[in-house]
Amino acid sequence: MRLQDKNLLVTGGASGIGLASVERCLQEGANLVIADLASSEGEKRAQELDGKYSGRCLFIPVDVTSTEQVDALLAKMQSELGSVDGVFNNAGIGNLAPSTEVEDEDFQKVIDINLTGVFRVARAALRFMQKQGSGSIVNCASILGVFGQSQTAAYTAAKAGVVNMTRTLALEYAQQGVRVNSIGPGYIDTPLLEALDDDMRQFLINLHPMKRLGRPEEIANAFLFLVSDEASFVTGANLLVDGGFTAGKS
Ligand SMILES: NC(=O)c1ccc[n+]([C@@H]2O[C@H](COP(=O)([O-])OP(=O)(O)OC[C@H]3O[C@@H](n4cnc5c(N)ncnc54)[C@H](O)[C@@H]3O)[C@@H](O)[C@H]2O)c1
Repeated sequence: MRLQDKNLLVTGGASGIGLASVERCLQEGANLVIADLASSEGEKRAQELDGKYSGRCLFIPVDVTSTEQVDALLAKMQSELGSVDGVFNNAGIGNLAPSTEVEDEDFQKVIDINLTGVFRVARAALRFMQKQGSGSIVNCASILGVFGQSQTAAYTAAKAGVVNMTRTLALEYAQQGVRVNSIGPGYIDTPLLEALDDDMRQFLINLHPMKRLGRPEEIANAFLFLVSDEASFVTGANLLVDGGFTAGKS
């Protein structure tokens, strides 16, 4: 088992990439906390998965826009499981609108969840990891953290911020046994893409040299690697998992 007895947290763990990552890590012997909005499917998913594998699976509700809730989440994880060994900072929302039509509050909402939310969770986890002298944080960025795309100003700003903030956190805590990396998924077939019509979906498929969307499990496998001791010399990296999307663009 590649994650035997490790205690891991996945924000946005009730759906899509987060949920696939929760199950993949349970398969490798870890205990998991699904952290998601109270209104999400998280409680139900945790009940289904708890007891299915050797590790525990708990749901702790959180809104990553609240510092108070995020700090309480990490404290609860520590008291329930005894350590914070790894985090997938994965909660996020999309946005698609011409920039001239984006209101301040719409822009701020995306930044607050997709960038500041990632910082809040990383900061709270780092406080525990620093004391432990070990830990691995994986932040979910995107191919849109390294390339622009029309009508996604807030999202691309947030994801680019995640990529570079990851490098800074990696530098800051490298000597304290803590690794910090990001993953840059291509377009992945999750509920986040449900609102797209067939033409848009086909357009996105064609952007990938592999001519398909990614599967949530393919990102889960990248998280599994980065959070595990197999990645013991990897920090500050942005691992692109994108079916070749970025290969011809640099
Ligand atoms: N699906 C893609 O094509 C794609 C591509 C690149 C990056 N990503 C990133 O992957 C991550 C996961 O996306 P997904 O496709 O699995 O989406 P998803 O919509 O299936 O899951 C996102 C989860 O985040 C939760 N969430 C949203 N706001 C939250 C908040 N304020 N506090 C706590 N939880 C919150 C949602 O309830 C949901 O369970 C996101 O960061 C997204 O930007 C997705």
